Amino acid sequence: MKRTIKDLVNLKGKVVLLRTDFNVPLDEGGKILDATRIKNELPTIRYLTSKGARVVILSHLGRPNGYDIHKSLWPVSLYLAKKLSCSVSFSSMVLGEETKERIKMLKDGNVLLLENVRFYKQEEECDMKFAREIASLGDIFVNDAFGTAHRKHATTYGLARLLPNAIGFLMEKEIKNLDKILNNPKRPFVVVLGGSKVDSKIKILEQFVEKADTILIGGAMAYTFLKAQGKDVGMSKVEDNNIEVALNVLTKAKELGKKVLLPIDHVCLRGRNPRPVVAITLKDNLIGYDIGPRTIKYFQNELEKAGEIFWNGPLGMYENANFRVGTRSIAEIIANSKAHTSAGGGDTVAMINLFNLDKKFNYLSTGGGATLEYLESGSLPAIEVIQEKIS
Ligand code: 3PG
Repeated sequence: MKRTIKDLVNLKGKVVLLRTDFNVPLDEGGKILDATRIKNELPTIRYLTSKGARVVILSHLGRPNGYDIHKSLWPVSLYLAKKLSCSVSFSSMVLGEETKERIKMLKDGNVLLLENVRFYKQEEECDMKFAREIASLGDIFVNDAFGTAHRKHATTYGLARLLPNAIGFLMEKEIKNLDKILNNPKRPFVVVLGGSKVDSKIKILEQFVEKADTILIGGAMAYTFLKAQGKDVGMSKVEDNNIEVALNVLTKAKELGKKVLLPIDHVCLRGRNPRPVVAITLKDNLIGYDIGPRTIKYFQNELEKAGEIFWNGPLGMYENANFRVGTRSIAEIIANSKAHTSAGGGDTVAMINLFNLDKKFNYLSTGGGATLEYLESGSLPAIEVIQEKIS
């Protein structure tokens, strides 16, 4: 078991370097479009400040190439100032005089947010000189950035090698919930996988074929699987280089007696004709963009029997209202199911929020790639490096 912030004693007056994942969507004017990740971080910040720690927050936002005003964390500092009762200040740099001065001015129980760590190329290189300079600013390192824990970067991994450390409440909650799904799922365990890339999901599929009882596959990924089964896919998007991989998953599932269900009808377009049609077979110039009504019923039948459901990836091109019904219907079926329900992945959680169903899920992971990697391997580099609890 990893050390958590509850195991840290004598925090009063200590400078705690807290790594968070405030990688939130912003509009052109810097308005935060979805603050879920920040809201989920507030309990850790409140706990540390209540113990008298001087909390210096580090985060990345996006994938900037050097300084980029549109990727500044300044709007996040304004949000934090509104939500927290303590004083919140902001430094426009990570290293340098401004940061040192602002840390000197910090009083017990106050918060300082530093600028985007990815404005420095040393962050992603996990440059240990850079990490040492940051480490010299604080006494303790707390990592609560679950969404970035699959990255071996200077402020996710490097700092843990240099300072006494622990994980925060958000990280602890993610680990607890994902471990439950991995090690002790209720039965039948149904996994719903969508999205487009077989490539990035293949490892998790291989893992789920062993763990789950039933896998429902939708989204663009389904066409690669249908083609692997020798079915017509018309002109739908297929990853030809992954057909063999898809076939292996289907073969393994058969050997283990697991069910893998693929769409049995589709909402599609015929060539350039913009009017969507429903088809059972994707012949000629048909392009599939969503699961059809029969597939919804077919999948519903399995979901209603489930004890545990995990969902990752949209089942169609949900950004377009013409191809949203499949994803929305499955989201509603899962949300209203009696099973223990969870979902992970940036797009998936954004979709659940869009449909206002977030409160009806038992657990929504803040991670995208991190959640999938955790479910594949049962740990992540930035978690591994944290000290164990002393029992
Ligand atoms: C995410 O949004 O998945 C995390 O913040 C990690 O971001 P990254 O994929 O740019 O490392």
